Amino acid sequence: MRYAQILGTGSYLPARRMSNEDISKIVDTSDEWIAERTGIRARHLAAAGEQTSDLAVQAARAALADAKVHAEDIDLIIVATATPDMTFPATACLVQNKLGIAGCAAFDVQAVCAGFMYALVTANAYIQSGMAKKALVIGAEIFSRLLDWNDRRTCVLFGDGAGAVVLGAADKPGILHAKLKADGAYSHILNTPGKVANGEVDASPFLYMDGQAVYKFAVKALSKVGADVLLEAGMTAADVDWVIPHQANQRIIESTAKHLGIGMDKVILTVAEHGNTSAASIPLALDVGIKDGRIRRGDTLLLEGIGGGFAWGAVLLQY
Ligand code: ACO
Repeated sequence: MRYAQILGTGSYLPARRMSNEDISKIVDTSDEWIAERTGIRARHLAAAGEQTSDLAVQAARAALADAKVHAEDIDLIIVATATPDMTFPATACLVQNKLGIAGCAAFDVQAVCAGFMYALVTANAYIQSGMAKKALVIGAEIFSRLLDWNDRRTCVLFGDGAGAVVLGAADKPGILHAKLKADGAYSHILNTPGKVANGEVDASPFLYMDGQAVYKFAVKALSKVGADVLLEAGMTAADVDWVIPHQANQRIIESTAKHLGIGMDKVILTVAEHGNTSAASIPLALDVGIKDGRIRRGDTLLLEGIGGGFAWGAVLLQY
């Protein structure tokens, strides 16, 4: 049996940090309101000239160094992003060029905050089928540019960042089991409708969210997909060493963990420092948990993500 194993991880947050106090000078909000409702204390914002591919390359270089893998040995690059540098080419191609490794397959996946789950599962399929030996899987976003900075209901929630993993083919696990789900009937509760058409942006270029509807959907969907993945893998919550959830909102994370029967002492929580970084949030949290020594080789990890679409999924793996 051929598995995809995590060989290394890396992450990157832009230098500019905006605390809740800072944001309360822009819109009518407070540290107390944001922290109590979401657990967020700060977010990082990309500099004016910084692009999603720049953030992705920083995370990718760190992951390659951690894995002790040369960029030239990568034969697949997948970037999960809803905020690409441009409509096309794919951000993955721009990342490939910045890494100086022409030739390998490179493409983006777009599943918003579930993007890293979709990218990881796709790379796993490439490796299991023998189509790739070493893959770079990156989640990178500049969500700050989709936000209406006059809308306190949304602008306080998101941030910019990137996270990456290097996956390699191995005869031991690796990724054990995964499940991806989507339901386009819920596209109206979380979206950015604007698109480039006839030389202008057609429809609103800002993120729209029905917060309460998203909250309810997210808890239900994440609890079910997490439980399903464990059941199908013949495992229980007790077998999980660490949950690495999408970092959107601490209350969603706590509620999902409760439904799964997993204590918060087994959950990697980083939302306080970077807010919701969409596709970047899971690999960011994974890298933090590994680098600070909590996640160790051989640990069983449950990764879970959900986002606009709606799209969601979970991956069970042995680190
Ligand atoms: N600061 C102060 N007050 C605010 C703010 C703010 N930033 N935002 C909204 N309010 C006010 C509202 O205007 C409202 O005031 P009113 O009663 O006078 O009209 C009041 O707070 C309550 O507003 P609600 O929208 O009902 O607040 P709620 O308790 O639902 O919290 C929140 C909003 C935090 C967005 C919540 O719905 C939530 O967590 N939803 C999940 C959304 C989420 O996590 N999305 C992430 C993106 S999706 C994803 O990644 C899956």
